[in-house]
Amino acid sequence: MKCLGIEATAEKLGIGIVNIKSEILTNITKYKPLTTGIHPREAAQHHAENIKDLIKEALQKVELSFKDIDLISFSQGPGLGPSLRVAAVAARTLALKYSLPLVGVNHCVAHIEIGRLKTEARDPLTVYVSGGNTQITAFVSGRYRVFGETLDIALGNLIDQFARTANLGNPGGPVVEKLAKEGNYIELPYTVKGMDLSYSGLLTAAKRALNNYSVEDVCYSLQEVSFSMLVEVAERALAHTGKEELLIAGGVGVNRRLQEMLNSMADERGSGFFTTPENLLGDNGAMIAWLGILEYTHGKRMKPEDSFVRQRWRTDEVEVLWR
Ligand code: ATP
Ligand code: FE2
Repeated sequence: MKCLGIEATAEKLGIGIVNIKSEILTNITKYKPLTTGIHPREAAQHHAENIKDLIKEALQKVELSFKDIDLISFSQGPGLGPSLRVAAVAARTLALKYSLPLVGVNHCVAHIEIGRLKTEARDPLTVYVSGGNTQITAFVSGRYRVFGETLDIALGNLIDQFARTANLGNPGGPVVEKLAKEGNYIELPYTVKGMDLSYSGLLTAAKRALNNYSVEDVCYSLQEVSFSMLVEVAERALAHTGKEELLIAGGVGVNRRLQEMLNSMADERGSGFFTTPENLLGDNGAMIAWLGILEYTHGKRMKPEDSFVRQRWRTDEVEVLWR
């Protein structure tokens, strides 16, 4: 069995093909480099213009055709409506045209499952950090429950918005990480509320600090404060759930300093520490295809008329049939 997965929740378009033996046959991504924040309609237009060729390229790369595909999966949510609709329309069309079963999958759960597939983590607490999401989850009573999340902007969005103000380009993560190595600590607001995080006050303060401190100092402190907040919540979630493994997922997870901080916390607790391989950390089609296989082989079925997009689909609404 082979599944073709379509990912389009934000500015990236991804196509992946995965087989039942969990081998990733192909996984390609396309996006228009951004100079500003994401413009939802423009992102969707990019996806609509490129999706046909990207699917063709994915199949050609591994010398497959639709005759070899047994299942279509797509990112049904959460995400930006216009992007999600491109994936849903394409998936529905392909399913009908080639008489293939269709499954819409949850993007956040896909990040967790591809991490579990490609690391030794079996039952981790997952820290999922990207441009649009900041979420700490663990599997409890049949679902991935959310133990902490951002109350306003996501960690990647904090870094990207700050970087644009500081004229560091987009995406900001890699530049901020590099500049942070040369910086010293200045005080910035640290906001953890219960198990949740708030990054908007930190963003305002970091932008303002650019008037009085070097960009290196602000980058360093922005990372230290925002990452420490995440470590605090992740540590409490580990203690609360009793999980003994920590897994990083999402595009911000490539940050070495973040990995180091979470790793040392996990180490001190005697917990295992895992990072999703770099090529699968960010949004990609393979994770959507893999979750499609997990769901389909455990009984999930979807009629085309039920394949509407779910912009605010929460991680803990998904019934995890495969564990
Ligand atoms: P999602 O739709 O899940 O929210 P996304 O569209 O933001 O995902 P990802 O590829 O998962 O896509 O993540 C991109 C984010 O990762 C951007 O905010 C970017 O700045 C951040 N990032 C990339 N490299 C680094 C880095 N070295 N340090 C910190 N953040 C980074
Ligand atoms: Fe993502």
